[in-house]
Amino acid sequence: MVLLVAAGPVTAQEPLPPLLSSGLPGEVTADRLPMPADPDLRLGRNIWQANCQYCHGTGLAGAPKITDRRAWAPRLAAGVEKLFERTKNGFIGAGGAEMPPRGGASSLSDDEIKSALVYMIANSSDGPTAR
Ligand code: HEC
Repeated sequence: MVLLVAAGPVTAQEPLPPLLSSGLPGEVTADRLPMPADPDLRLGRNIWQANCQYCHGTGLAGAPKITDRRAWAPRLAAGVEKLFERTKNGFIGAGGAEMPPRGGASSLSDDEIKSALVYMIANSSDGPTAR
């Protein structure tokens, strides 16, 4: 918690891409995205940066890239609970791309991976969880 507070306010360096765009160009690190005001989303940001950014910041191995609303929209249609289940248990897509269980970070709690998921969704949609 101290760390989160110490991080202080950071402003967005780039505007978020519009609905159904394919997202920011290049590798999208958490540093390029707005610092969330909500403490849960801040936790999610830290978890995401440490455990999910490696694949979901670059689109590595077929991972849907954060901010790529076009890639996320059909996945979001399945609902957040379905996406959470796949985050927990892992998932192999139709094209054979593999999402490892918990993004490979087996020591993370359910709450931690859920916060990372919500952070990723918030930056990849205009849905109810978007800020
Ligand atoms: C080693 C690379 C890798 C890491 C690390 C990783 N993912 Fe993924 N993830 C993937 C790939 C690849 C896919 C796409 C699978 C497909 O649809 O073909 C994916 C898909 C997803 C999906 C979409 C599932 C669906 O139903 O379409 C969610 C949600 C997700 N990841 C969440 C996370 C979260 C949260 C983390 C961090 C805790 C994380 N991932 C870490 C590779 C990764």
